[in-house]
Amino acid sequence: MSNNTVLVVDDEDYIRSTIAGILNDEHYTVKLAKDGFEALTAMKNFYPPVVLLDIWLPQMDGIEVLKRIKEQYPDTIVIMISGHGTIDTAVKTIKMGAYDFIEKPLSADKLLITISNGLKVFNLQQENKQLKVTIEKKYEIISVSRVMEDLKRKIAIVAPSDSWVMITGENGTGKELVANAIHRLSSRANMPFIDVNCAAIPEELMESELFGHEKGAFTGADRRRIGKLELADRGTLFLDEVGDMSVRMQAKLLRTLEEGRFTRIGGNNLIDIDIRVVAATNKIIKDEIRDGRFREDLYYRLNVIPLHIVSLRERKEDIPVLTEYFLNEKNKISRQKKRITPAAMGALSSYVWKGNVRELKNLVERLFVLVEGDVIDTEDLPREIRTNSKNDDEQADDGLHSAKSAFEKDYIIRMLKEHSWNITKTAAKIGISRENLSRKMKLLGIEREV
Ligand SMILES: Nc1ncnc2c1ncn2[C@@H]1O[C@H](COP(=O)(O)OP(=O)(O)OP(=O)(O)O)[C@@H](O)[C@H]1O
Ligand SMILES: [Mg+2]
Repeated sequence: MSNNTVLVVDDEDYIRSTIAGILNDEHYTVKLAKDGFEALTAMKNFYPPVVLLDIWLPQMDGIEVLKRIKEQYPDTIVIMISGHGTIDTAVKTIKMGAYDFIEKPLSADKLLITISNGLKVFNLQQENKQLKVTIEKKYEIISVSRVMEDLKRKIAIVAPSDSWVMITGENGTGKELVANAIHRLSSRANMPFIDVNCAAIPEELMESELFGHEKGAFTGADRRRIGKLELADRGTLFLDEVGDMSVRMQAKLLRTLEEGRFTRIGGNNLIDIDIRVVAATNKIIKDEIRDGRFREDLYYRLNVIPLHIVSLRERKEDIPVLTEYFLNEKNKISRQKKRITPAAMGALSSYVWKGNVRELKNLVERLFVLVEGDVIDTEDLPREIRTNSKNDDEQADDGLHSAKSAFEKDYIIRMLKEHSWNITKTAAKIGISRENLSRKMKLLGIEREV
């Protein structure tokens, strides 16, 4: 059960015990303090979500205690108790972060309702924080490659600037992930992140999707609809696949973005908006402009800061960490844990992922479901990945090297096992010298299994 402790801070014994009695009857856990110092100690010991705090206290007054509590435990719900003549002060405390105040003489009903509401607010706050952590995890950008680490550094610099950003990259490279990171690291993080998929929404619905409409604006508009521009006010608007937006819509959007205001379809009221736009596309926009499918002026408006995500085949070092990460995510929620052999990892690392990270992620998830047993090995991989990893020109790079090592390691271990880890016999079988085998084993980190 969640913590329902209420700390009661009042210098009058009678008030403390009366409140304690009322709260105990309602099954709250009650802690008492007769002055500010005791209150701060109790905060440290019990971390109460709700504090009832008298304004008038000897030595350190309620205002000072409130200040200190809010500094150290900003989430705490502090309800001030104000005596006759301290109402003005009580109002001031709200500005300092107090949740509410109640007046003496205390009404039991008012007291209980205020505490119960305060506790609800506290729990919602905590839930919200938890959700944020979950979302942040969901949008974590996993990488080890230089290019991606550079990109992350750039994101951290660009995000707080409020500049508009254009993200380019092939399908599945993580454009949405990057857009989200920009939002979360910006000063708009607590405001909405609104995603408009320009490729998925048919042209005739796009206008209403973005601008919203008034009731009766057209046949079928049986109630008012708030568009995404309005929803994104003070937050971030993510125009995903912006290269797929019709030229007519581009013109209307550009005008709106420049003026910072618009009207809903069928409406007269001008609505002001303050939005940051992050756009993404997998198209080569320069080509789209040349062919008349994308407005150059909109491009310059959006492309204040360009961020490019390179394809996965240009950063193969990321493949193993991504694979481990996706596998781990599955392992976390499943009773059966699975691992992948170095050989299979080698094959994945040297494969050319046309669908980039999304394709890799889908494959790992599929393997997790389909592979029986707890080891994912080379033979479990789709044929194109197995064969590709043996003979592809692309492999004259690091990917090939690690794939080769992985294969070699796997092969040597298998041979060693077949010969009960007798190095001389194994070397003879493989056709290399004993010294050479020992050296290879050391190099590949092969140790005798016991
Ligand atoms: N670096 C990464 N770390 C962890 N997950 C990633 C990474 N890059 C991409 N992903 C995951 O891969 C999938 C595709 O990413 P995302 O949707 O951001 O790509 P996209 O470029 O927008 O793709 P599309 O062009 O298909 O819309 C998502 O599930 C995302 O979580
Ligand atoms: Mg996307």
